[in-house]
Amino acid sequence: MPKADTQDLELLVIPGDGIGREVTDQACRIAEWFIGRGMRLSLRRIAFGLEVWERHGCLMTAETLAAIRASRAILFGAIGGDAYDDIPLDIVRSQGLLRIRKELDLYANLRPVRTWPSLEPICPLVPALARGVDLLIVRELADGLYYGEPRGISTDADGARTGINTMRYSEASIRRIVRAALEVAATRSGRLTSVDKSNVLETSQLWRRVMLEEAAARPEVAVAHMLVDNCALQLMRRPGQFDVIVTENLFGDILSDEAGAITGSLGMLPSASLRFGGKAAGRQGLYEPVHGSAPDIAGRGIANPLGAILSLALAFRFSLDAPQAADLLEAAVEAALADGARTIDIMHAGGRQVDCNGMGDAVLAALDILAPATSGRG
Ligand code: IPM
Ligand code: MG
Repeated sequence: MPKADTQDLELLVIPGDGIGREVTDQACRIAEWFIGRGMRLSLRRIAFGLEVWERHGCLMTAETLAAIRASRAILFGAIGGDAYDDIPLDIVRSQGLLRIRKELDLYANLRPVRTWPSLEPICPLVPALARGVDLLIVRELADGLYYGEPRGISTDADGARTGINTMRYSEASIRRIVRAALEVAATRSGRLTSVDKSNVLETSQLWRRVMLEEAAARPEVAVAHMLVDNCALQLMRRPGQFDVIVTENLFGDILSDEAGAITGSLGMLPSASLRFGGKAAGRQGLYEPVHGSAPDIAGRGIANPLGAILSLALAFRFSLDAPQAADLLEAAVEAALADGARTIDIMHAGGRQVDCNGMGDAVLAALDILAPATSGRG
């Protein structure tokens, strides 16, 4: 195996909480396969989340934050668990995942959603509707209700409490995300659906105006506007009508879980969080499966690692200058599924039940078949 040297790109792996560790372990095994085939990449694991809280009373140390700032690509597992109920929300906000996203200003969150032919039986939609779905949700990730001030829970003189959050969107925040979505849509089918709630919210009215202005500068992309409640319905009614969807932070959070149902399991969904503008290759990015920490199954080794593995593929494509490796890895996932490998969440599609590690094995075996080594694995 080639030795890592200072020329190697680094993938910073943050397993985090719950099943984050199990699924990122499998993604690391896959990354090591590519390193064995000559990819100039080194892996560095770093602690984050509850284990750090127990030892240091914080979710991430200053060194962790510095490593995050300096890294080109971060593979993040998950954050969450019952123990967070006892951690003040402002600490979670200032030291958790939202801080990482904000710190790196990763405002464009790409969540590809596709159906896999082998998983058709677990899609809740009839096959005619589900077949061939291949859409991309572009979620604004650095603004909106998640970050807006004022926020908090206030108590008045009579002891009555009020919860406050603020949905705030500057023109600049909207402009950069809709530009990113237009750029992405231009490289796909040229169809973009902008999702808002402009019949009620001023933020959405501004969103729609800015979207129209930016769309005028990109005539090659056909932009449609859709209200978010209707979009939730249309995703289940006729998902094939969508190619790229762009929307604000909270709407994107909700719609992407809903869209996960089309795939059959949230465990299948990867994501990439990026900044746009400038050179596309080699962008700094945060890569995370869309699923959470799943405390109910954590530590049992049965989680589906494909969301994490497909997130690694996105890291190859967008940050690590290895688009061919990304294509190969996605093909290997498809082959592993076609060969019948099923973690428990996708088991009702029929096939052979494997655990988290077994799914990693299946993808590695598929890689070996799709790209046989010429002179051994090194
Ligand atoms: C997601 C998650 C996160 C979010 C949580 C864990 C903060 O639901 O990435 O979709 O709401 O953004
Ligand atoms: Mg979510």
